[in-house]
Amino acid sequence: MTDPTTELPLVILDALMPTSQRQVLNRRGSSVWEAKGDRGRHAVKLGYPILATEEHPAQEWIAKAPAREAYVLNWLREERTLYGEWELGTWNVQPWHEGPDLWELWKPCRVEGSTVEPKLDVALSCAEALADLHVKGWAHGDVQPAHFIVGRRGVQLIDLALAHGQPVIEAFDFPFRGCLVHYEAPEISRSVLAEGTAVPTPEADVYALGAAFFISATGTRAVAYPDDAPRPVQRQAVVDGPHRPVTVPGAFGELIGEMLRPRPADRPTIGEVCKALDY
Ligand SMILES: Nc1ncnc2c1ncn2[C@@H]1O[C@H](COP(=O)(O)OP(=O)(O)O)[C@@H](O)[C@H]1O
Ligand SMILES: [Mg+2]
Repeated sequence: MTDPTTELPLVILDALMPTSQRQVLNRRGSSVWEAKGDRGRHAVKLGYPILATEEHPAQEWIAKAPAREAYVLNWLREERTLYGEWELGTWNVQPWHEGPDLWELWKPCRVEGSTVEPKLDVALSCAEALADLHVKGWAHGDVQPAHFIVGRRGVQLIDLALAHGQPVIEAFDFPFRGCLVHYEAPEISRSVLAEGTAVPTPEADVYALGAAFFISATGTRAVAYPDDAPRPVQRQAVVDGPHRPVTVPGAFGELIGEMLRPRPADRPTIGEVCKALDY
């Protein structure tokens, strides 16, 4: 059998009839494609189980992520996100959002010796995209620079597979087991270390957005730990703190510091973040 993560399943080819397609990435149970054709330009996401290795147990639940994301998108938006099952898991098809992500966009700020400062109108648009989600009763759970796509008509916050807030139908649901540790709030890391799972919250999203601003502007993770440290060691470093001093200058740096406060109740809400950036 050909490896289905190296070509689009027939069910998707039938639905989209693309004239061209390319794989954007394939990693950790997720294969993302860009498909173009008469029916438009789409992102296709395929989920498949991660098999057990010597270091990690199997992660079968990840195969459900595209269907779960489609459920969340359909809850949030009027236009329908198609989804279904394929041989190894679930898939969804969503509009393609053109543009660099926050990490790419702020690259000039990270060049050695650069005096370029991060553009605050972009920071505000990212915060507004997250605020829009919080207002609707959801926390994102996986806020990171790659998930903000900065288009000409605004910022799109993508990858809603781990969002929590409203009930998700059981068939697609799975517990939240943490996200990329660079963006994990201390209370999330603590819970994942103790119980294996956590509950995404708006407060943890605000922390993650602060960490996303920090790393995109400076190239440094908010909390110091060795690159190759195992995940539990990374999480313990986040729990133990403190975070690195925020080197971003001015009021933006101060705001990032507030967003990274260890106690969730001490952090600004996303509405307050938007207000602080809107001057
Ligand atoms: N709708 C979209 N429009 C444009 N690019 C997308 C879209 N969805 C995903 N991508 C690209 O694929 C990458 C991975 O997608 P993501 O939704 O984060 O899936 P994963 O579950 O693999 O993390 C994104 O960082 C982005 O580059
Ligand atoms: Mg992602």
